[in-house]
Amino acid sequence: MTKNYPTVSAEYQKAVEKCKKKLRGLIAEKNCAPIMLRIAWHSAGTFDVKTRTGGPFGTMKFAAELAHSANNGLDIAVRLLEPIKEQFPILTYADFYQLAGVVAVEVTGGPEIPFHPGREDKPEPPPEGCLPKGSDHLWDVFGNMGLSDQDIVALSGGHTLGRYHKERSGFEGPSTDNPLCFDNSYFKEVLEGQKEGLLLLPSYEALLTDPVFLLFEKYAADEDAFFADYAEAHLKLSELGFADA
Ligand code: HEM
Repeated sequence: MTKNYPTVSAEYQKAVEKCKKKLRGLIAEKNCAPIMLRIAWHSAGTFDVKTRTGGPFGTMKFAAELAHSANNGLDIAVRLLEPIKEQFPILTYADFYQLAGVVAVEVTGGPEIPFHPGREDKPEPPPEGCLPKGSDHLWDVFGNMGLSDQDIVALSGGHTLGRYHKERSGFEGPSTDNPLCFDNSYFKEVLEGQKEGLLLLPSYEALLTDPVFLLFEKYAADEDAFFADYAEAHLKLSELGFADA
């Protein structure tokens, strides 16, 4: 879709640049890149292309959205981010949470994702149930967002970062050996199958069917191809419902 980005003031743009630096510092200090990527994704991934509800519009700050079961643990991300947000009152939460996601990928060695500011904050959170829960409705939900099969597979590589926490999701453990390093190891692990100490989500077995299986093989063999497709898909995700021409 062609985009029609809003123009922001020079003061706003300067705040974005400064805030990026603060986010890099926070992520280095707290090793919290994974949960920053998760909050950005859970914010944006509620977008429904048909009803044009949800999306990356800052609503994760509301207790009602944090209480959605898919968002267990994201209150930690909101809490970690708040002292930085307070330094940049000019920024919308919508831009701020998406900037945190982009910085998380970049500082852990992932691709650079272009960032366009100007999202507005929505006054109300989306209803519960917009994020994918398991394999059964995974394709439907991503389809509702308006993303392609390639975007879905590339984005699933986001699980190169972080881990599953029993108290948040019922699952436990990382998906890769280096959960603070953004690389293509997630695809290698999925192709190699279950391994001691690593956890592969059952919902992702749904991705391992034709024709997307070929993409798993491609990304496992070619990190540059993964980074290029990931950057494109993350950019789309971070701009769902934003600046549509
Ligand atoms: C089918 C879609 C998806 C499902 C079912 C899913 C499910 C999950 C679950 C259950 C967790 C564990 C949460 C916890 O216990 O802390 C998790 C963590 C995570 N997810 Fe996903 N996810 C999906 C898509 C994505 C996408 C598209 C991204 C990013 C582009 C992503 C990034 C992450 C990250 C970085 C973590 C680690 C968080 C941490 O370490 O605190 N996920 N995901």
